[in-house]
Amino acid sequence: MQALTSVPHMLHGCDYNPEQWLNRPDILAQDIEQMKQAKINCVSIGIFAWAALEPREGDYQLDWLANIINKLYANGIYTVLATPSGAKPAWMSKKYPEICRVNASRVRELHGGRHNHCYTSPVYREKTRKINEKLAERFADHPAVILWHVSNELQGECHCPRCQAAFREWLKARYGTLDALNQAWWTAFWSHTFSDWDEIESPSPIGEQLIHGLSLDWKRFCTAQTRSFFENEIAPLKAANPRIPVTTNFMAFYDGISYWELAKSLDVIAWDSYPAWHSRQDGDETYNAFWSDAFSDMCRSMLGKPFLLMENTPSQVNWQSVCRPKTWGFHRLTAIANLAHGADSIQYFQWRQSRGCAEKFHGAVMTHANRTDTRVFREVSSVGAMLEKLDGLCGAKTNANIAILYDIESHWAVNAAQGPRNGAIGDNELMLRMYLPFWKAGYAVDFVNSEMDFSGYHLLLVPMLYMLRADVAKRICDYTKQGGTVLLTMHSGVVDEHDLCYMGDTPAEGLAALAGIRFLEIDPLFDEQHETMRIVKAPFPLAESYRLERLCERVAAEGAEVLAVYEHDNPAMPDDLPCLTRSSFGRGTAYYLGGFAEERFFSDFLISLAERLGIAPALDTTLPSGVVAAARHGADGTKYHFVMNWTPEQKAVNLPHPLKDIETGKVYQNKLPLGPYGAKILI
Ligand code: GAL
Repeated sequence: MQALTSVPHMLHGCDYNPEQWLNRPDILAQDIEQMKQAKINCVSIGIFAWAALEPREGDYQLDWLANIINKLYANGIYTVLATPSGAKPAWMSKKYPEICRVNASRVRELHGGRHNHCYTSPVYREKTRKINEKLAERFADHPAVILWHVSNELQGECHCPRCQAAFREWLKARYGTLDALNQAWWTAFWSHTFSDWDEIESPSPIGEQLIHGLSLDWKRFCTAQTRSFFENEIAPLKAANPRIPVTTNFMAFYDGISYWELAKSLDVIAWDSYPAWHSRQDGDETYNAFWSDAFSDMCRSMLGKPFLLMENTPSQVNWQSVCRPKTWGFHRLTAIANLAHGADSIQYFQWRQSRGCAEKFHGAVMTHANRTDTRVFREVSSVGAMLEKLDGLCGAKTNANIAILYDIESHWAVNAAQGPRNGAIGDNELMLRMYLPFWKAGYAVDFVNSEMDFSGYHLLLVPMLYMLRADVAKRICDYTKQGGTVLLTMHSGVVDEHDLCYMGDTPAEGLAALAGIRFLEIDPLFDEQHETMRIVKAPFPLAESYRLERLCERVAAEGAEVLAVYEHDNPAMPDDLPCLTRSSFGRGTAYYLGGFAEERFFSDFLISLAERLGIAPALDTTLPSGVVAAARHGADGTKYHFVMNWTPEQKAVNLPHPLKDIETGKVYQNKLPLGPYGAKILI
């Protein structure tokens, strides 16, 4: 696999805002010298620079940018060139108020902030296209420019009249007739039947929020509209030079639009990682780390190749409730963890702290003190030095045999539904609970969505696939029939793609037959309540019982072997109500989990299952608690092992075979000592 850009090195970069310092040539000159010292080899420029690039309508001022790009390039620093649509200039909002977003309560916003344009507005699209054309004309063939950073963290929705009209057109194309739409949305309920397309409005707190089909289609429309806005942005960029890849930066588990859909328009996936580090008194960072690594794995899975870590803070953010700086040495650990899960870059927000406005106290490589003898600067530079030794890792693959099916449309639907548990149904938590033991034990995991091919995986985990399309159910059945192992769970196969409940036995579309069970009822629990699942037939060593939370689904076994039952003291309840079952299907096996089990269950069950399936972790050893491992495979066959200690304690890992530290060359024979928050890359 190749590097993500034309640069065959790991990228070490940052968001750079020279437009804030144009009257300080001394600072701009220092920037370059300091960047070289910090071993920065690329910067993202122009992300919010529209007012400097087009200070008056049609007056394009690109010389300052060219000057900066040239100087950086002459000093060995590449440019990730941004399009500025993430923040519009004030003159534009004043002249064309239609570009300002209208919120769900139908109030048009005043000028201000960022990430708040209407993405349907023909004016905004035209202005964006034009500025992008100018940028492309001037820079698309510049040897410094290695990547387009399109807009920034695309997000939000607009409910203006133009968006309403576009939504209706989108619905017409989807349904053809109002009859079909009324059927799909079940609008006879509460007399919500539409007799004219014009009666349809996007969901609103002062209007309709309870037609689930409408809410779901609105999310799909917002995704489509964001993607078409994005396509409008990249058309002039691609026309000028199709060889420069395009990306935009994602936010962890953002669910306002489907990133999977947007990914279809991207050459490279990039994301911004901001866990709330150091929020626990005991210093154990495991829970922050696994959340961030899970999203890295998701990003890596979307296009099946490495991604760029477009932003992370070198020290602290300024927007969490408490903004703790990364402690001494911790930055190196987070950098290595990102590389371990598929990053081909470590990039920062931000190079230099601004003097004023919202982000003046956000961490940066250069603070207001403007010194290079700070510990943050030293730690950043040493990560840069490490990356310089990692050319072989560029484009390196992750070989995963385990896949977790994550369907964002199902996530939207199950969270919009009223009942059985409002506010915290926990589909994402269940997904992460399945991911956690593999992450801890060093097994590679991919995330697939419903459209993706999962036939090549040895193990397919399907947490709470509430919304199930018939074709997906068929592919899950085929996968199992052909020898795959699948784990299905409670609250799956409940509604179809319109969010209409399936009639008849569920999980629908053949999944009940696949699992050899049939849904009876679902019993949601309050936060402080729990039930217990008792193992009656352990397929591999398991504890006697496990705690259940949130959701207890009762099923009837219809062909499946019962592996665990619900424990209870209600004499009216049967003693053999299945909670975990196993069923053979063709050459494969389907497990069904009815209860929302505690973490310990997933770690006991899933690791044994993976072992039984012959799936190997990155390192064939038992890792000490708080230490995790991962691996990537370079094009030349080198296997890179990453070992990370997320605790403030000294740890030691028993190595299954000698491994060499890629930075120091030292070979570790059978013990690898790891200091507090220590990390190593070994080959
Ligand atoms: C990101 C954003 C950056 C900066 C950063 C601060 O979400 O893309 O522009 O605001 O947060 O943490």
